[in-house]
Amino acid sequence: MVHKVDLLICHADQLVTCAAPQGARRGPAMAELGIVPDGAVAVDGEFIVAVGPAKEVCAEYVARRQIDVHGHAVCPGLVDAHTHVIYAGNRVEEFEQRLRGATYLEILEAGGGILNTVRATRKASLEELVSTARARLDTMLALGTTTVEVKTGYALDTAGELKMLAAMAALAGADNAHPVELVPTFLGAHAVPPEYYGRPDEYLDIVVEEMLPAVAAWYHDSPFAHRKVPLFCDAFCERGAFDRQQSERVLRAGLALGMPVKIHVDEFTSLGGVTLAVELGAVSADHLDVTVPDEIARLAASQTVGVLLPAVNFNLGGHHFAPARAMIEAGVAVALATDLNPGSAPCPSLPLVMAIACRYQGLLPAEALNACTINAAHALGLGDRIGSIEAGKQADMLILKQPDYRYLAYEFGTNPVAGVIKRGQLVV
Ligand code: NIG
Ligand code: FE
Repeated sequence: MVHKVDLLICHADQLVTCAAPQGARRGPAMAELGIVPDGAVAVDGEFIVAVGPAKEVCAEYVARRQIDVHGHAVCPGLVDAHTHVIYAGNRVEEFEQRLRGATYLEILEAGGGILNTVRATRKASLEELVSTARARLDTMLALGTTTVEVKTGYALDTAGELKMLAAMAALAGADNAHPVELVPTFLGAHAVPPEYYGRPDEYLDIVVEEMLPAVAAWYHDSPFAHRKVPLFCDAFCERGAFDRQQSERVLRAGLALGMPVKIHVDEFTSLGGVTLAVELGAVSADHLDVTVPDEIARLAASQTVGVLLPAVNFNLGGHHFAPARAMIEAGVAVALATDLNPGSAPCPSLPLVMAIACRYQGLLPAEALNACTINAAHALGLGDRIGSIEAGKQADMLILKQPDYRYLAYEFGTNPVAGVIKRGQLVV
């Protein structure tokens, strides 16, 4: 019997499924993609109903719309599991300061860096935050990103952090929602704001006693709660930001309000934050540039996904990158993300991140693709709904310009994506 569906994608030279029913991919499995040659996908409504050889799927289903993608590869929509896509202003002046020799942490300690963006974001209206973020999301979507995690942390006062969350809700809400799906993270512990200079613990009193309860209440009535998308709590565990104990205080307070944990850790300084992440059952630990071997082993033995952000190393002109090979060999579930932000990574492109990871971190193109799809989905706690092309999952897929997925990382400075399907709709 022939079934009627909304959409059939037929004859992909490579149908790259990234299917991993048993959870995030680790070790040798990170190099496996579950490719179906001459593949097809049947989609009904927002969901995938069948995946397999075109000969079988196209005989079993008829569709209102059929797209022949002969000459192209098809892969899952990319998932950007770490960004700061909502912000005002720019840091182009600091870009030049760094080229002249100042370091990222020196600029932060002098009241610039993140605090520069905090001043601009506090002044910006909600409408301005929404319209500038919308333009960035348009670019990310065209480059193949179909889900984006977004952090607060550029206001650092209760009203301003809620304004950043309101911008996310506006971009995700029913009227005029952006096709890119958002996942919100509260990052009140991003930096010590100027009015609390030298008094980080007093600032954290406000984060814990005022901001977190306000944010948890906001979430309860937000479009995210209605769609069962989690609200994460994050902290920047770093010299000049928050130490391990301070980070733990905030993250535990978030957990007590039902917020799963993410953490910025080991970007410049190893403060034991990976051990903390594992103790707290964090969904992800991000950056990991200077993580020590003991902590790599601890991460590998945990469910916490390691999110690497090599666009930051590239942008800061460093020659050191997170030890991705050692992590994969140890068994860490590795994901890659852009960290899109105006300071350390003004980069919307996951294909460029894959290109960097392959060249400077020794990832294979297949490992890089799993790291931007199924493992990134697990870094958001959404691995059962997005990140792979499997029956029952949301229909988020890319039609690539080339017949071979490796072009995603092979060419750079160009857009490898010909078409984007989000929730069953052709949106690019
Ligand atoms: O992930 N490291 C801390 N936070 C961001 C940078 C934010 C900024 O520089 O504005 C990061 O790199
Ligand atoms: Fe970040």
